Amino acid sequence: MNRMLIVALLGALLPLPAAASLALAQKHSCMACHALDKPLVGPPFRTVARTYAGKQGAEARLIQKVRNGGSGAWGKLPMPPNPQVGDADLRALVKWILALPPQPAQP
Ligand code: HEC
Repeated sequence: MNRMLIVALLGALLPLPAAASLALAQKHSCMACHALDKPLVGPPFRTVARTYAGKQGAEARLIQKVRNGGSGAWGKLPMPPNPQVGDADLRALVKWILALPPQPAQP
């Protein structure tokens, strides 16, 4: 009962495209290493969005990076390549990450 209420509330609060791509990110296991707001193995997606905001070619660069993996942009830990993610999904994921709004205010 409570869980259903929370799910319903979340559904009402999250804009639909974000919810759809979070599901996509979960489907492709991105969320095993990434979170929106805190560093896990990789950088938080909101911080990625802030870092690349307004940068030319960021989308193309990140699509390449997620596909081929690599390290050095955030630290020594490498992101493994993600060849299993199809072109359309990969583009949707990177667009979604870059469009994430800035981190909500901390309580
Ligand atoms: C095994 C852990 C792991 C998985 C799975 C993973 N990442 Fe990463 N990701 C990382 C690490 C570590 C970095 C930091 C790499 C660096 O410092 O250059 C990173 C960096 C990134 C960046 C920033 C790259 C840059 O150059 O600034 C994006 C965007 C990203 N990941 C998206 C994704 C997406 C989308 C997926 C799912 C398809 C995914 N990641 C899956 C570990 C992971």
